[in-house]
Amino acid sequence: MSRAKTIQDFLRSDIIDIEELLSLALDFSKSSLYANPNHKISATELARLDILIQKRQSGEPFAYLSGSKGFYHLDFKVTTDTLIPRPETELLIDISLDLFDSSESIKVLDLGTGSGIIAITLADKCSNWKVSATDQSEGALEVAKSNAQNTATEIEFSHGNWLDAVPNQIFDLIISNPPYVKDNDPHLADLKFEPISALISGVDGLDDIRTIIEQAPKQLNSGGYLLLEHGYNQQKEIMRLMRESFIDVRGFQDNNSIDRATIGRIK
Ligand SMILES: C[S@@+](CC[C@H](N)C(=O)[O-])C[C@H]1O[C@@H](n2cnc3c(N)ncnc32)[C@H](O)[C@@H]1O
Repeated sequence: MSRAKTIQDFLRSDIIDIEELLSLALDFSKSSLYANPNHKISATELARLDILIQKRQSGEPFAYLSGSKGFYHLDFKVTTDTLIPRPETELLIDISLDLFDSSESIKVLDLGTGSGIIAITLADKCSNWKVSATDQSEGALEVAKSNAQNTATEIEFSHGNWLDAVPNQIFDLIISNPPYVKDNDPHLADLKFEPISALISGVDGLDDIRTIIEQAPKQLNSGGYLLLEHGYNQQKEIMRLMRESFIDVRGFQDNNSIDRATIGRIK
C-alpha cells in the first residue's frame, strides 16, 4: 500500500499555484502549510485538492476557484458573472483620490461596476463621497451588492446600459473600466473563463468607450471629470475623442509603464 501523501510532497511538486490550492483544499493558511509539512492528507482532502488542481490546470483562474480577489485595501467576492479585478485598475483609484479631497461632498459614478471594486473602494476610503454604480449584468450587480454589504459603504446600484441606468442624475466624477478588447483579439483565448460581455467592444475595442464619451457630458456637473481605463494602444484615439467635449485631457500609465487611463474635465 502506498503511503499517504503529505503537504510537503505537494509543496515540492511543480503544480501551478500549489500553495494556494493546498490552502483552499485543506483550509490552512499559507503559514500553517509550512508549519505542518508532515500533515498526512486525508482521502477527502485529496479528492478536493485533485479537483482544484485539474480545474487550475485546465486554465480556470485561481480567483474563480477561491471565489475572491484582493483589490486595493479590500477583498472582493468574484464569480463567473464578474471580471476578475486587475491590479492595473488600482490606477483609477489613485487618480480619483488625487482629484478630490476625501472630505468633499461629491457625487461619483462607477459605470460597469462588475464586482464593485471601484465604487466600493472609493466609498470605503471617502465616506463623504456619494457613490453610485451601474452594470448591464444582473449577475454582476448581485455580486457587487453583496460586496458592498461586507463593508460599511452605502452605494446606490442601478441596472442598465451605461448612463441610461441613471437618467437625470448629475455627477462630479464619472469613472469606468469598460470592455475594451477587440472582438477577435487573440488574447481572448486566455480569458475564456471571464464573461465575454465584460471584455469585448467591437472591431477596435472602442464601441463602449465612444458611447460613454458621448453620453457623459450631459451628466457631469460644471467642472466634472470623466476617467476611463483602456487598452495599451487606445489612448491617442480616446484623447482625440474626449477633446471634443473635455478640456485638460491627460493620459496616465500603469505600474508597467503602459498607457492605461485617460481623464478629461468637462468644457
Ligand atoms: C471590464 S469589466 C470591469 C468591471 C469592474 N469595474 C472592474 O474594474 O473589475 C466591464 C463591466 O462593464 C459591464 N458592461 C458591459 N456592457 C455594459 C453596458 N452596455 N452598460 C453597463 N455596463 C456594461 C460588464 O458587465 C462588466 O461588469
